[in-house]
Amino acid sequence: MKKLTVHVGNTYEIMIEKGILKSCGRYIKNVSNAKKIAVVTDTNVAPLYLETVKESLVKEGFEVINYIFEAGESSKTAETVMRMVEFLAENRLTRNDMVAALGGGVCGDMAGFASAIYLRGIDFVQLPTTLLSQVDSSVGGKTGVDLPQGKNLCGAFHQPSLVLIDTTTLRSLPVHFFSDGMGEVIKTGCIKSAQLFEKIENEDITAENIEDIVYACVDIKKGVVERDEKEQGERALLNFGHTAGHGIEKLHNFTGISHGEAVGIGMLMISEAGEKAGLTEGSTAERIKKVLEKYNLKTEDENSAADIIEAMQSDKKRTGSGINFVMLSSIGNSFIHPVENEKIKELFGI
Ligand code: GLY
Repeated sequence: MKKLTVHVGNTYEIMIEKGILKSCGRYIKNVSNAKKIAVVTDTNVAPLYLETVKESLVKEGFEVINYIFEAGESSKTAETVMRMVEFLAENRLTRNDMVAALGGGVCGDMAGFASAIYLRGIDFVQLPTTLLSQVDSSVGGKTGVDLPQGKNLCGAFHQPSLVLIDTTTLRSLPVHFFSDGMGEVIKTGCIKSAQLFEKIENEDITAENIEDIVYACVDIKKGVVERDEKEQGERALLNFGHTAGHGIEKLHNFTGISHGEAVGIGMLMISEAGEKAGLTEGSTAERIKKVLEKYNLKTEDENSAADIIEAMQSDKKRTGSGINFVMLSSIGNSFIHPVENEKIKELFGI
């Protein structure tokens, strides 16, 4: 088993092991004296792993209830979270009880947010089953929902008590979802680790050989979150490609394009802009483009750059007078570049 400890507020562990879902109850028992556990999952994941998780929890003496929501980003709303919270209340969960988020990023974000606000905060564990959630969203305590005005505009920082990563779940992941997660892996290499980027550039990463990659990403994220839990500085680097990416997702009404695909196009756009502005080392964008293509991610969007820039304006990372873009000086090295509103089009060459 690979293990990492995150020191932020309450210290918690991240355990990475093939098949760990089968013994999740044992590890959860070590961090909780809950009587009841509410497993929150979606309609895609429930048929695959809910019984395994329930069985392990029941074996350890937990009373288990489950809440299943319709899979997909369009479910990531305040209404869904309020229904979850009401479900917890109907089942009389106390402050000692716990929520387990079994699924991808949407599930973890919503179950985490429900745990953050129910009784002003109860514990939750992350059981991420997609690559995106294993390498990024399950670690660091960002929870929340989308609003009609933009993605993730409503939420709370609420750290999990434990993260259990079972990479065998990636075997059941449709290719599209695997690529989606590779978008975040590529991002992590771009901003913090040339070594990680070179590994995914030179090797063929599949669900079978991804454990070291998951560990490397989580290790990098853990460090960033420990140094800057509430995104006052360094943590914003994790948003590389996300400003344009969120704009693209918004233009697609959050359907028909995955988060990883949108972020991939965003990373490319900002790196091309960086090279033109002399801020980013030459051939960085070309390397990113090749690696996006290698992992079946898109490199362009049908919307124009002008429309994407317009859609970016509602991004929450925006300051009053401009946007803080995350840029690369080279692969593995990133920095925040504030750009005034009137200079944004110029940065993107329009
Ligand atoms: N996914 C970016 C962050 O957790 O800060």
